[in-house]
Amino acid sequence: MNIIGLDALVFGVDDVQACTDCLVDYGLTSSNISADGGRFEAMDGTAIVIRRGDDASLPPALGPTPSLRETIYGVASVADLEAIADELGRDREVRRDADGSLHCVDDLGFAIAFQVTCRRPFTAPADLTNAPGSAPQRPVNQLGISPDMIAVPRTLSHVVYFVPDAAKGEAFYRDRLGFVTTDSFVGVGPFMRPAGMDDHHCLFLIQTPPHMQGCEHFTFHMGSGTEVLLAGTRFQQKGWTSFWGPGRHLFGSNWFWYFNSPLGCHIEYDADMDKHDEAWAARQAPLSADNSQLFLFTSREKWSPGGPPEKH
Ligand SMILES: [Fe+2]
Repeated sequence: MNIIGLDALVFGVDDVQACTDCLVDYGLTSSNISADGGRFEAMDGTAIVIRRGDDASLPPALGPTPSLRETIYGVASVADLEAIADELGRDREVRRDADGSLHCVDDLGFAIAFQVTCRRPFTAPADLTNAPGSAPQRPVNQLGISPDMIAVPRTLSHVVYFVPDAAKGEAFYRDRLGFVTTDSFVGVGPFMRPAGMDDHHCLFLIQTPPHMQGCEHFTFHMGSGTEVLLAGTRFQQKGWTSFWGPGRHLFGSNWFWYFNSPLGCHIEYDADMDKHDEAWAARQAPLSADNSQLFLFTSREKWSPGGPPEKH
């Protein structure tokens, strides 16, 4: 199964305007905006789609609106779609859209879909770091940052589900769709990547009581830790409130900063996630604060020496 990652997440919401404001402030590019919803794209075309919660074209909700209604994966080719249709069609209904995309439900009850990927090639600058002891990355006289530097989401990274049976979910994505478990929190759930991509994870399952089932958060990759901090600072200045971060996760090594959102889940910025192949041996660890992050900071208002006294 040549699944190459997430193409889009579709949400049913009750406040289209608030969600539009949130996703635009987050840095996504909007299109097809109306009172009924819209599409919000990163640099590579991966996207968040919002629709009114009562939109009859959406798969059924797992809980109250707002909520995640469908997870859309991208595959490399039509042949990959046929392989998925053959596999999942053995024991469940697989509906085929006019555009060729496949729609069905996973073993946990989440609506999932597959399409020939909408990802388009793009180029964007890397954060060049000069470290004593290593060859310079950033040339002499080239500045590292500027006040107006761009820090916007580049590609849809991962989604995290609250699930009633993480082992059942892991078995479905492993045995039926070829996902690989890269690491696990014991008694909580696995980080998983599809075989067609090398990111540490695009799916993380968290065992919870059944009534909590749904999306905990999603995130897009930023270009660097600097971009996570800059985009998060700008997002916060627009009034959105921090939930967790900024910091750096241990499993996956990704920078993170989570915010509250009107989409029914948290919304994260991440950057610089580990990449793995079949040579990687999955780790297992108990879930703890130390195992969740290497470090964690709290953002503060800007301040300068000689300015107004520090607020405490
Ligand atoms: Fe995350």
